Formats: sequence, structure tokens, C-alpha cells
Amino acid sequence: MSFEVSFKNVKPELTFKPSKYEEEVRKINALLESEWENPKNFVGWLHYASHINQNLIDSIKKQAKYFRENFDTLVVCGIGGSYLGTRAVVEAVNGLFPSDPFKVVYFGQTLDPNYTAQILEYLQNRNFCVVCISKSGTTTETSVAFRLLRNMLEAKLGKKGAASAIACVTSIGKGALYKMATQEGYNTFELPDNIGGRYSVITPVGLLPIACAGIDIEKFVAGFVRAEEKFNSPELKENLAYQYACEQNYLYKKGYKVELLITYEPRLQALAEWYKQLFDESNGKDQKGLFVMSSTFTTDLHSLGQFIQDGSKIIFETVLLFNNPKLDVKIPWNDEDLDELNYIADKELSYVNRKACEGTINAHANDGNVPNILIELDTLDEYKFGEFLYFSMRACAMAGYLNNVNPFDQPGVEIYKKNMFKLLGKKGY
Ligand code: PA5
Repeated sequence: MSFEVSFKNVKPELTFKPSKYEEEVRKINALLESEWENPKNFVGWLHYASHINQNLIDSIKKQAKYFRENFDTLVVCGIGGSYLGTRAVVEAVNGLFPSDPFKVVYFGQTLDPNYTAQILEYLQNRNFCVVCISKSGTTTETSVAFRLLRNMLEAKLGKKGAASAIACVTSIGKGALYKMATQEGYNTFELPDNIGGRYSVITPVGLLPIACAGIDIEKFVAGFVRAEEKFNSPELKENLAYQYACEQNYLYKKGYKVELLITYEPRLQALAEWYKQLFDESNGKDQKGLFVMSSTFTTDLHSLGQFIQDGSKIIFETVLLFNNPKLDVKIPWNDEDLDELNYIADKELSYVNRKACEGTINAHANDGNVPNILIELDTLDEYKFGEFLYFSMRACAMAGYLNNVNPFDQPGVEIYKKNMFKLLGKKGY
């Protein structure tokens, strides 16, 4: 099963020289591996998949089965790294209009009263269960949503019934969520201390809700394990994830300060959100870092396309393609041809989408001088998706260290919280 990264649409003078990076990459790889051995560091994700305990998988599957058999809707309650990975996998694998009668909705990721009021109204008529995910256990958005959900469940099912409709994922032994879950008897899964939110999709943070959505988590984990083997080499010439990180770094230093992750499928929009968080929260620090954004083509070619083609030369694109679509649709023949589409009648949409992609890469890379990196995978399933997520995490960690920042902390996100708490009158602020 193929996984290719190609730099052929990046001009030679903008392509990194392996000899300039090899030594540094080896050093950073050794640092990552040594950090993995120390539980105080934040690289628990590096070999988590290959060390996962079968009992954990079984208990996650058991919880998911219970939820699927006894409820019709799952509310995933979390924000940032505590929900984006789940949403990325669920939407990519199941699609945006899944036929599964068991629904998945997302809550705890906003303070918007309109969204909140509507979701609560929607849930009035659903037999719902909740997976609440928070490492710290004190994130305002998630805590407010979870309080509202608990109130609803307790009013409907009583305290005991509500407890059986709730599972939590959090740090064990500390934090408000852990304390509450222990006191109220909620089934609780561990988010290890040495894994930060945005690297946690392979832990119960992702595995539990993904399993609830009917996705094969063993296949997903197997994809991660395969990727651990594939992207583990300290040798740059053998490691596609590190080659990608080096190219990002090289383009950044050449003045391309913005990377756009390009996908051609709306079902990958949530993946793009996860990807942006991973790279931007990890590497945007100390007044530096590539700004990673995303775009869905061909949709955005009718809006952002103008800027990408003709605007400031600060952008490069990374085009992510899953080559074999799960579903396809043929464009029908029409005798009258009033819409003038018969020239592509009987063609599959995958073919048309592919040609749009080829034409766009050509336009952007050659006419527009926008470097294009191409990442191609064959199938979009749990396994391949797991591989891609791990590839991204490994590349992100390398990219951070190449730019001399710590890719595992996020000091910048605390400042707004302090201001908000002060304005809200929280004790101690
Ligand atoms: O990646 C991160 O660290 C963040 O996005 C967190 O996951 C996010 O802020 C949610 O934090 P918590 O899981 O503590 O509720």
C-alpha cells in the first residue's frame, strides 16, 4: 500500500539539500528517542501504538459496544487536541452523511450560546451518551458543556442512569474531571501525562469516540504501528516524514511563511483542522514559525484561488490526495446538452476531480511560482489514515526542533485564558 511524498513540483533551487540537514536530523531523532524513554517528557505518543495494551483496546471496545447498543447519539465533549483528532478520523472514514443510525455530535468546543442552545434542543429528542475528554479537566468550554449535559442526563435518567451514559478521558489522579468522575462513578480512561492533547488521537482520547462511531480501532492502531516503523529511521533519505519537515523548514527560510494544506474532499476538512492545530500550536512560538493553514479545492479555487495564484509570494502548498475514492459518481449523458457537459458525460467524478487537481498544481507551481509538495496515499481507510496522522506528528516534531522551538508546549494559549478569567471574576485571577 503506497504512501508517497513528492517534491517534483518544487523548483530545484527551492528544494532542500539533504546533505545540509542529515546530521541535524540524526541528532533530533536521537533526542526524540531519548525523550521517549523519559516519562517526564511529552513524547509518549512516539511509540504508544506499538506498546498499547490489548486490555485497553478491549475495554474501549466494550464501552463503545455498550454505548452503541443502548443509545442513538454520542456527544463528544472536548476542545482542541481533545476532539479534533476524533472528528478528523470520524468524518474522513465515515463521511459527512453517514448512513449509521448512531449519530456523533461535537460539543464543548465553543462558548457560542446559539450553538449551545441548538445542540441542547437537538439532544432533547435523542437518547444520548457522552464521552467527555479533557486532560486538565478544567477547560472552560468543555466544563460548561459537560455541566449542561450532566444536568440533562440526570433530569432524564437520574444520577445512576446518567452515570452509565457517561465516560471520561482525562489525566489519572488529578484535575477536576478526574475528581468528579471518581466521585460520580463515571467510567474513566487514561490520557497519559506524557502526551499532549494534539498528539493524543492514538490514546483513548481518540480511540474511545472513534470506536463508538463504529470505526475499526485495531485497524487504526495498526496503521499507526506501521507508520512508527516506516518513519522511525534517523536517515533522512529513508524517512519521508523528516524529508517533509526539512522541505517545510527550507521553504520557510526562503520566505514562504505560509503553508496551505490542500485537500480535494470536504470530508477531510476536519483533518485539516487537526493538522493546523498540530503544526501551529507546536511550532508557532518565539516570534517565529511557519503559519499552517488549509484550503479545500476545488471549492476554494473559486475564492482563495486568486490570491494563491497571483497574490504575495508567501505561500506554498502541500496537496494531500487519497487516490482511490470510496465512492464514485458517473456524470450522466443528456441528449439536449443544454448545460454543455456532454464532453465529460460518462466520466467518473474522481476523474474530473483528478484533472482539476493536475491543472491546479500546474497553474500554481509553474505559472504562479507557488511550490507544491504532493502527498499521495492510495486508500482512505482507518489504517491509511492512522499512518498519515503519525507521519504528520513525526514531521511536526522534527520541524519544531529544526526551527529551535519546543514542539510540545503551548505557552501562548494561556494568555487569553488569564485575561478571560480575570474579566469573568474567577478566583485567583
Ligand atoms: O493540544 C493541546 O494541548 C490543546 O489543544 C488541548 O488539547 C486543549 O486546550 C484542551 O485541553 P484539555 O484537554 O486540558 O481540556
